[in-house]
Order: sequence, then C-alpha cells, then structure tokens
Amino acid sequence: MSKKILLSGIQPSGRPHLGNYFGAMKQYIDLQNEYESYIFIADLHALTSLQDGKTLREASLDLALDYLAIGLDPKKVTIFKQSDVPQVTELAWIFNCITTMPYLMRAHAFKDAEAKNKEINVGKFTYPLLMAADILIHDADIVPVGQDQKQHVEYTRDTAEKCNRIFGTTFKLPEPLILEHVKTVPGIDGEKMSKSYGNHIPLFAEDEELRKLVMSIVTDSKGGVPENVRAIHELFRTKDYLDKLYSEKEGKYKDLKDALLADIIAFVTPLRARRAELAKDLPAVMKILEEGGKKANTHAEMRMQEVRKAVGLTL
Ligand code: TRP
Repeated sequence: MSKKILLSGIQPSGRPHLGNYFGAMKQYIDLQNEYESYIFIADLHALTSLQDGKTLREASLDLALDYLAIGLDPKKVTIFKQSDVPQVTELAWIFNCITTMPYLMRAHAFKDAEAKNKEINVGKFTYPLLMAADILIHDADIVPVGQDQKQHVEYTRDTAEKCNRIFGTTFKLPEPLILEHVKTVPGIDGEKMSKSYGNHIPLFAEDEELRKLVMSIVTDSKGGVPENVRAIHELFRTKDYLDKLYSEKEGKYKDLKDALLADIIAFVTPLRARRAELAKDLPAVMKILEEGGKKANTHAEMRMQEVRKAVGLTL
C-alpha cells in the first residue's frame, strides 16, 4: 500500500519558537518515515504581511535552514518553497469564485484582524483559500499544525466538499493533526506562546538570550510550584521526573528555572550547531529547495490538469 500524504507549511516570518517546534514542527520529523511528506515555506502567505523583497528572501532561506537543522531529511521529505508551485494560486482563484464573503468573514484570523481595526488586504482575507489550495492540490491526508490553524483545516474540508459538489472534482478531505498535550505552551508571561505576543522563547537562541528569557518567566507569588516554568519544562521531561524535581525544590524558583534552562540548552545546542554548519553552504540548501520545488510542482500540475478539465478551462 502506498504511504499516506502529510503536508504542512510555515510562514517565513521570524524565528520559530518552542511552541512552534513542539506544537507542529517536531511532528514533521517524527512522522517523516511513516508518511510521504511535503513540507513547505509559505512565502506567498507571508506576502500578506511581509512586503520587503530582501527580508522575505532571507526569511525563506532561514526557514529552510531551520527545517534542515531540526532534522527534516530531504531524502525522505519534499521540502519546497510554496511559490515554486504557482498552481496553488490558480486553484485558490477557483476557490475564491465558489466561496462567499460572509463565510470567509467568520474566520477567526480575519475577525481578530478586523477587531484590531487593521486595514486588511484582500490576500489576508482569502488566506484560508490559498491554504486550502496548498493542502488539496497535494491530496494531503493529514496536516500537522498548531491549534491556531485548526479552523483553517476545517475551511479546507468545507472547500473541498463544495468544489467536489459543484464541479465533480475528487478532492480528499484532510484531517488536522493537533497534539492535545502541547495545545497551549505558555510563553514567559503565562499567555499562549506566540510571536505576536512577544512572549516566546526562540528555538535557536543563544545561551545568554535563553537565560534572560527563562529568568523572566512570570511566576506567581504564592510559593510552591511555578506553573509556567513547569508547563514549559514538560516539553523536555517526563511527568515523573518533574514531579520529583518540583517537590524537592518546592518554592525554589531560581533553582527550578536553572534546571529548565539547562534542559533547554542541552536540547538546542546540537540543533544550533547543525544549523550553523548548514548555513556555511547556502547553495546546497537552495539546491534542496529547487529539487523539492520541481517534485512538488509536478505532483501539483497533475492534480491541476484534472481540475482545469472539471471546471471547464480546457477545450
Ligand atoms: N497558515 C500556516 C501558518 O501560519 C501556514 C500554511 C500555509 C499552512 N499553508 C498551509 C500550514 C498548508 C499547513 C498547511 O503557520
């Protein structure tokens, strides 16, 4: 039996943090043998908020390095840049034409942006449909994402059903893969860890930056167990180990933070080293993206030929 297809992507916008890693990226690595995997750099999505050519180019290469450094194996996984599969924009256009505005207006991301009273661009508004195109064009069975992307996968399923109903296409309905226990990795202020809240611990930070961040984790003043420290610590150690440590060191926040810091550093040191090594040969990284892009493009083009036929774009 052929392997099921896994697909996921991340926008190249800033450094990945512990929440991104344990919430989604780690699954790419854990599942790369089990699934036929497509992992991409969502540069077209990034254009909805990042509009500076040089910065986007650098951020895309950075993300490619991050992917390789955490252990994605280009021999097993198709790693590519979204814009090397421009067929997704064509498919997204078709989806635009069968989707109503009120339906898209119900998207959390859109409502949040609107609540902040931002001037929202049309790309942001139809963001879920480009994401649907990414997923459906590759016939993905599962989509490992963080909790915040759950609704986008629901939009993708709805869109697949709608397109199948209207045009008789045969899109598969994908399942999101969300790890329950890491749903809410707290940031240093106790809120959900997120780049946009500025409370995150970057995965590839240097020791000194990590130390500052860990020491600034907000702890309650009641004494006992510092919940936020422990919640982050749970990403690195078993419950039994932590039960013992946190009862031995009850109330000793500084010791517990030191222990967490040591565990984070032990974990990221080899990743950081691998990333530095990879960064010495950027042409090799670009070659990986180029090859991945070709493969993803071929796969997507096959799918699009059927879609064009179904909707009446071929004569
Ligand atoms: N929206 C995702 C994010 O912000 C990125 C993304 C774009 C994606 N297309 C996708 C994720 C397809 C999974 C599948 O992180």
